[in-house]
Amino acid sequence: MKIISAVMKKGGAGKTSTIVPLASLAAQAGARVALIDMDSTPSAQQWVQAAGLASDTLACDRVSAEELPQLLSEIRESGAIDYVMIDTPPGDRHVIVQAMSESDLVLMPVHIGSGDLPQLVETYHLMRLPLKANPNLKHLIVVNHAGTMPAVTRDTMDGIREGIPEARIAQTTIPYSRQYALAKGMVPNAAKWWHFSKLWGEVQEALA
Ligand SMILES: Nc1ncnc2c1ncn2[C@@H]1O[C@H](COP(=O)(O)OP(=O)(O)O)[C@@H](O)[C@H]1O
Ligand SMILES: [Mg+2]
Repeated sequence: MKIISAVMKKGGAGKTSTIVPLASLAAQAGARVALIDMDSTPSAQQWVQAAGLASDTLACDRVSAEELPQLLSEIRESGAIDYVMIDTPPGDRHVIVQAMSESDLVLMPVHIGSGDLPQLVETYHLMRLPLKANPNLKHLIVVNHAGTMPAVTRDTMDGIREGIPEARIAQTTIPYSRQYALAKGMVPNAAKWWHFSKLWGEVQEALA
């Protein structure tokens, strides 16, 4: 069982917009997925309910920081889940560090442009203690709102590498698009939402 969390201190970065499609596409492909919403504004859970994403292979629960370790050990013991995907709230260092500590891979979405870079660097450094406890902890920074401005996207990647020399940046960038702007409440489609299919491939590669 692998645990993947979407984490970024800043709200509106694309945590929910990234983790829900990955969870849904993985489940559609036959993986057994438990999606855990740790945000007190449970937009991942609302999306799952609105789009009817729950299935034989996808369950979604809203879970507090206190409940997380117990739930994860129950899931692990059950042997019935391949991937746990955790959506986290913005701002809450405690929850962010806890989710990171339980994870095998941390996804960090960030918008193109320089504005969100300091928050990304701060978020990245919250991984220090979880990394000490689990040196095998992987991460992938996902550049979101990319595409329309290739030069700004490139500058953003350079800025990330400068701010975090050891950063692992996903090759797949997520474009700003109408489809993804209207995504919440929709059923992710592997062909049409191919950026997330591709990103899921990268996540699996990073975990291998
Ligand atoms: N690639 C994208 N293109 C267009 N809109 C996007 C994209 N990614 C996210 N959004 C929109 O941006 C807003 C914030 O995204 P969200 O995933 O909720 O961020 P977070 O979970 O980090 O707070 C949402 O309204 C979402 O629909
Ligand atoms: Mg969110």
